[in-house]
Amino acid sequence: MAHIVSGDSGVHDVVEALRRGDVVGFPTETVYGLAADIRNEAALQRIFSVKGRPTSHPLIVHIADFDQLHDLAVGVSPACLALLEICWPGPLTVVVSAAPHVSRVCTGGRDSVAVRLPAHPLAQMVIRELGAPVAAPSANRFGHVSPTSALHVANDLGDDITLVLDGGPCAVGVESSIVDFSVTPPEILRPGSITAEEIRAILSHHGTDLSTSSHGPSRAPGMMDRHYAPRARLVLHEAGDPLPVDGAPILRFDTNLVDAARHLYERLRELDARNIPLAHVVLPTPSGLGFALRDRLSKAAAGL
Ligand code: TXA
Ligand code: MG
Repeated sequence: MAHIVSGDSGVHDVVEALRRGDVVGFPTETVYGLAADIRNEAALQRIFSVKGRPTSHPLIVHIADFDQLHDLAVGVSPACLALLEICWPGPLTVVVSAAPHVSRVCTGGRDSVAVRLPAHPLAQMVIRELGAPVAAPSANRFGHVSPTSALHVANDLGDDITLVLDGGPCAVGVESSIVDFSVTPPEILRPGSITAEEIRAILSHHGTDLSTSSHGPSRAPGMMDRHYAPRARLVLHEAGDPLPVDGAPILRFDTNLVDAARHLYERLRELDARNIPLAHVVLPTPSGLGFALRDRLSKAAAGL
C-alpha cells in the first residue's frame, strides 16, 4: 500500500518522487489529485494507466502562479484573467488555448489545456519546489468515487503508487468548476463550488456572457453518465417528495450545502464500506452549489 507522508518532509519526498518520474497522491482543497510532472510524458502516461482512464480524456494542469498560466496558454482573454484574479487560488479550472510546447498527452490530443491554481498550501508548495506545473486528475480509479482524504487515495490506488501527501480532509469536497474559454461565449463544462451565478456576475463586468447551457449536466470530455459511482445503488428524490419506508438508509444533501459537498464522497464510500446495496438520496434544489451536488449525485446514481 502507498506510504502516507506529511509536513515539510512529506512535501520534499513527493517532489523527489515527481523528479524521478513517479506519480504521487497530493491534496487540493477540492479532492486529492494523482500528480505527475508535466514535463515528463512517461509519467503523464502512467497517470492514465494507474487510473484506467482513456488517453483521450484530458488532465487538469495545476500551477502555483500566474506566470505559469502565461507559459502554458496563449491568447487568454481579459475577461478570463479578470475571473481568475478573483477566484484564484481556488476551485476553478479554465480551459484555454494551449501553447505549442504543452504535452498533447496531457491535453488528450487537444490544442486546449485545462489550468487551475489550487488553494491548498501543500499543493502550492509541491508545485513551487518542483519548479513546474503538475498534471493531476482526481486520485481514484476511473469512474469511481473521488478521494477526499489521503487514506482514500492509499486504499484506492494501493500498490500502484508509492506516496500520498497528507493534507487533511478536503475543505470543498467536490471537484473544481470548469469554464471553457475556448468557445464563445464561455461555457461551464462542470459545475462546482464557484457557482454559475458568481461566474456570470464577474464576466458581465467585462461584457462577456456565460453560455446558458451551463446549468445542465457536466459536458467535459469523457464524463460519461456513470461517474463518481459507489457500488451501492442510489435512488434520487427531490426534497419534499415522500420517501419510501423500506429500511434502506436515507442520505440528505438538501440542507447545509457546504457540509453536504464536503462530506459527499465520504458518505458514498461509507455505503460501500458497510456493504449497503441501496440508499435513498434527497437532492438539494438546483441553485448555487446545489447544481454541483445534483450533477455528482445523478452521475453516481446512473445505471450501469
Ligand atoms: O478539483 C479538481 O479539478 C480535481 C483536483 C485534483 O484538482 N481534478 C479533477 O480532475 O477533477 P479530473 O481529471 O478528474 O477531471 C478533469 C476534467 C475532465 O472532465 C476533463 O474532461 C476536463 O477536466 N478537461 C481537462 N482538459 C480539458 C480540455 N482541454 N478541454 C475540456 N475539458 C477538459
Ligand atoms: Mg475525476
